[in-house]
Amino acid sequence: MSRSLISIDDLTEKEILKILAKIAYFKKKKKVAKHLGKSVGLLFEKFSTRTRLSFESAIAKLGANPIFINKQDTQLSRGESIAETARMFSFYLDALVYRTDSHSKISDFHKASDIPIINALSDLEHPTQIISDIFTIKEVFNKKNIRKINICYIGDANNIAISFAKIAKILNLNFTFCCPKKYSKPIANIINEEIGLSLTTDTNKAFHNADVIYTDVWTSMGMEKENAIRLKDFKKYQVTKTLMQKTSNKSVFMHCLPAHIGEEVTLDVINSDKSIVYQQAENKLYSAMAIIDFFLS
Ligand code: CP
Ligand code: NVA
Repeated sequence: MSRSLISIDDLTEKEILKILAKIAYFKKKKKVAKHLGKSVGLLFEKFSTRTRLSFESAIAKLGANPIFINKQDTQLSRGESIAETARMFSFYLDALVYRTDSHSKISDFHKASDIPIINALSDLEHPTQIISDIFTIKEVFNKKNIRKINICYIGDANNIAISFAKIAKILNLNFTFCCPKKYSKPIANIINEEIGLSLTTDTNKAFHNADVIYTDVWTSMGMEKENAIRLKDFKKYQVTKTLMQKTSNKSVFMHCLPAHIGEEVTLDVINSDKSIVYQQAENKLYSAMAIIDFFLS
């Protein structure tokens, strides 16, 4: 088993800070061919625009060879086991970036692998996205001490939210999670008021003086059957201009994208000056470089 990034919990505070510093380095350098001759696979079982392209491009910018693997073309789709596939991948690749519909699948893949496995989104976590977003928050607020920034995540307790709450715990961030009670269970275990992590159902309370408002879709990939009920349950949790007025003067709006405009966020908010969604998307390239470099080095 090799050192991997399956969950945010696989990294210490020191390691996360090291990766954040590397992101800044790669954002300046843009291209550093320090992994010539290495091959990194990309196995994506779910749709992706940003994560797939940013990693593919990042691997090439580091001098390594990105190999996109279509699951349908592998023996996995004909029933060869995850364990055997992982052993085979370990012979030919130096690392694997894997987006999957099941967190247990990526954990099993990792257990049977000799190469680093990087979670490019599972049903339970999206660690590379959140590392990148913490970099963007640091960049925007230009503060050494990000603990002083009031961060609010509003919406579903999904993969993004879980990775966010976990990184908030590790980095000791000031983090409020706002969600209907019925959906908050996956986050409730991580929340600890004593260390600055709180949970509320009250949007006014959550937005009051917040510096960062972060949201994501109410219906993640694979949950489409629940869409109608979720639209109803989350209706009051839409990020609107009125709610944004309760935030601090310097507040920003964040979203990992793709967004369902008119659901979790209104058009006037995502298109406003406060929105930094494209800065987030751009930074995914440098974060991918930093993460690949960290695990290949
Ligand atoms: N934010 C994100 O992971 O986007 P993609 O699904 O396009 O990769
Ligand atoms: N929570 C979303 C994130 C997409 C990048 C999903 O899993 O569909």
